[in-house]
Order: sequence, then C-alpha cells, then structure tokens
Amino acid sequence: VLEEKDAVETVRCPHAASRAHSLDAIPGPTKWPLVGSMFELHRKGGLNRQHEALVDYHKQYGKIFRMKLAFFDSVNIGSPCLLESLYRKEGKYPQRLEIKPWTAYRDLRDEAYGLLLLEGKDWQRVRSVFQQKLMKPTEVVKLDHKINEVLMDFMGRIGKINVNGRIKDLYFELNKWSFETICLILYDNRFGLLKKEVNEEAMNFITAVKTMMSTFGMMMVTPVKLHKSLNTKRWQVHTEAWDRIFSTAKVYIDKRLKNNSARAPDDLIGDILHQSNLSKKELYAAITELQIGGVETTANAMLWAIFNLSRNPGAQRKLFEEIREVVAPDQDPCGEHIKNMPYLKACLKESMRLSPSVPFTSRTMDKDTVLGDYAIPKGTIVMINSHAMGTNEEYFEEGKRFKPERWLRENNNIHPFAHIPFGIGKRMCIGRRLAELQLQLAMCWLVREYDIVATDNEPLNVIHSGVLVPERELPVAFIKR
Ligand code: HEM
Repeated sequence: VLEEKDAVETVRCPHAASRAHSLDAIPGPTKWPLVGSMFELHRKGGLNRQHEALVDYHKQYGKIFRMKLAFFDSVNIGSPCLLESLYRKEGKYPQRLEIKPWTAYRDLRDEAYGLLLLEGKDWQRVRSVFQQKLMKPTEVVKLDHKINEVLMDFMGRIGKINVNGRIKDLYFELNKWSFETICLILYDNRFGLLKKEVNEEAMNFITAVKTMMSTFGMMMVTPVKLHKSLNTKRWQVHTEAWDRIFSTAKVYIDKRLKNNSARAPDDLIGDILHQSNLSKKELYAAITELQIGGVETTANAMLWAIFNLSRNPGAQRKLFEEIREVVAPDQDPCGEHIKNMPYLKACLKESMRLSPSVPFTSRTMDKDTVLGDYAIPKGTIVMINSHAMGTNEEYFEEGKRFKPERWLRENNNIHPFAHIPFGIGKRMCIGRRLAELQLQLAMCWLVREYDIVATDNEPLNVIHSGVLVPERELPVAFIKR
C-alpha cells in the first residue's frame, strides 16, 4: 500500500526539534472564546471556501498552524516533511475524525460501522478482508470488463444528449456513471441510471445518497446530539435518507448472499461476501460505505480531468496520440493497455494534484507525538492539508500549470509525500486502485472519441461541498473526432 514512500530516506526532512514546544505555541488565526476564528473564516468566504482559507493560513503561519472553529480545534499541517514524520510515527490503527452524524444514525438503528467509521482492531479486521482484493492491482484489473460495460453505455448516453458539443449537467451524468459502475461491482446489479428513462428505484437510491451527503456537513460543526434530541428537520431528512440507502443495499446484498453458485473470476465482492467471516450486519455496513466513498469522489475526479484536458489542448493531443498507439481502433481499452500508457497516468496524477477532489484528510492522534517543533498530545485532531501542499510552489515548480510531464521526468525531485490525493498510510483510500482504473479507462474512451474543448477561458471558482466542485457548469464542449 505504501509503495515507494517506504523506500524514501528521510534526508529531505533533516529537521528535528531539540526541544518540542507545546500545542499552545503553534501559531494560527485568532482564537476568540467560543467562536474561535469562525468570523475570520466567514470573511474569507466561509466553509465553502475553507480550502482557500487553509492555503492562505499556511502562507501566513507556515507549515503548521492551529485553528479553532467553534468547538472544532485542530492542528493543520501542509508540508511533506511533517506528513512524512506523521506517517513514520503512525500506529497500528490510525484514526480519522469521527463522522458523528453517521455514527449517530448507525447507533439509532443498531447498524454496524464500515471502514469510514470503524476504529481500532475492528477497523483492521474489516480492512484486511477488503484490502486483499481491492488494493491488489492484479485483482482490480479483472474488473475492467465491468467498468467497460458501463462506460459503453455512458458513451452512448453522451452521444445522445450531446447538443452542439454541450452536455447538460455533466456532473450529474458523471455521478450516474460512477454510481452505476460501483453498484455493478458491489451488488452485481445494473440500475439503469444511464438509460433515457431511469426507473424509480434507481432514482430513489441515487437521490437518497445525494440527500444524505448534503445534510451531514452542518451536523459536523453543530452538536448532532442536539439535532437528534430536538428531532430537527435536518436530522429527520438525514435519517430517512440513510434508511432508504440501507434498505436498498440490503436487498441486493441479501440476493448475492443467497446465490452461492460458481462465481466469475471478476467477482471480487462475491468472494468477500462468501468467504470472509464478517457478519451479515458488518457486510451491510462495509459494502454500503464503499458505495458512499466511491461515487462522488470518482465522478468529481473525472470532471476535473475533463476540465484540465480542455484547457490544455497540447497535453490532450499527446494523450490522444498515446491512446491511438496503444489501443487498436477496433479494440476496447482494457487494463492491459493501461500498463503501457505512462502519459495517461501522468495526466490523471497531474489533474488530481491541480484539482483534487478531497482537499484534506485527518488523523486523531492515538499517542503523544512530536511533529516538527511541537509536541502534539494524544487526542489532538491533525488536519492533513493535501490541497495546500499540491498547490504550493515550494513543492511543485510552476505549480499552477497543468504539466503531466513533471511526473515522467527521472529524478523529478518531487517529494513523495507532497502528492496524496488518496490519503496516506494504513488508512489510505481502499478504493484507490479501482478509482484509478475507472478514471484511466474513462479517459481513454472519452478522448478517443471526442476532442474536449474549452468554451471559455475565464477563471473557474471552486467551492467546497464535501468535495471540491466548480461554482458553475463546466465550460467544455465535446466535439466528435
Ligand atoms: C478513504 C479519496 C475513491 C472508498 C479515502 C480518503 C481519501 C479518499 C482522501 C481518506 C484517506 C486517509 O485518511 O488517508 C478518494 C478519491 C477517490 C476515491 C479522490 C476517487 C478519485 C474511492 C472508491 C471507493 C472508496 C472508488 C470504494 C470502492 C473509501 C473508503 C475509505 C476511503 C471505504 C476509508 C478507508 C479506511 O479508513 O480504511 N478516500 N477516494 N474511495 N475511500 Fe476513497
């Protein structure tokens, strides 16, 4: 999982404090009683622009700063060296920030936790079951047929709804594509989201996920207990959405559990359902959370890849040439082809650096740890600001430019901890390999058939709504080659 990062010597980060200072000595924005720096953040554009505020704060305070937002107190790191130091000190069961609205729902309904929520030994037990299949490239590559099956429908749909090159609500179309793909892999079921007429069950399912995602953010910064005890509208809508998600997921997981006939070699999830010793309840939660983790993130990364290619026709031309060289015109792109497509991989990597879907992740320290000049006590929340690192000129020369070539140069001098779109260490994204294959294949299909052109060159503002999304419809057109 840790790949090349393990092999890197720490010489790039020679810094070690002779005497660590306390948490209170960490610089940061104002810490007013109760509100902390909430007003300051508000002036910077509020939670929707928090990714930009974090970049500003790193510029102002340096590689590490401390911030209080109402009850939320965190230490923020934005340097590869501090991240490397954190990674080297990682314990057996790294913890992320608890998503309280989600755990509150599970407790209410007596449902289990999946990988996004589990901690400690239980997390490791479930993680190792899924890791054996999902993090192994030789296993994940077997999914290329399923991914292509959905991509073929996606291309058909794009062809039909393309009006003078424009695709109305492209982001929703991409969400439907990634939803359909992950459901095929997890539930072995086609929901038909890419058809002209989407059936009611499929629409309800995707809407429930959307509703659940859009109702939990506020309950992360205001006490969920309060929402629950007051039975606020938000809590009700959130709970109903989870009910609908779980009831649909269970129907399809149950179907798969009942059917234990011979499985196809690409049925990774079928193997897990039948061979692991996880309980039914644990499987329900783990599978549902894979779905939640995998839909919008992948759709979002694809949206940004489309955008970056539209604004960089030179890179797109090179990519098109690579696709033409490796994939014969009468062939579907597949996992084997991707192995010989370094430029494609570099384009995706560069797009995720310049326009990451997830701007940060977090760790709750499970022991006292020294980071740089500071002693961070157990229990402290450390925010890992990956977006701030990826856009920092100190770590990426001409960092504002889309330059896939930077990843292909030998001795490129990029710190291996400076680019972590899927997180880091033992708790890294478990869907990484699957997402990469999905995105790589999708880019092949799309660029082979269409020239993706920019319809304007105005700046595109980015807002944070769980993932980083463009503020307006993407200014791109798909022109048939
Ligand atoms: C965790 C990003 C696709 C399932 C994460 C984390 C990030 C991330 C940043 C946190 C890692 C950390 O804290 O170190 C992304 C991006 C994706 C993507 C950018 C697409 C481009 C997927 C897919 C799935 C998935 C396709 C499901 C198949 C999960 C799960 C976790 C996770 C279950 C929690 C893992 C754990 O704590 O053990 N992802 N992800 N993700 N992701 Fe993804």
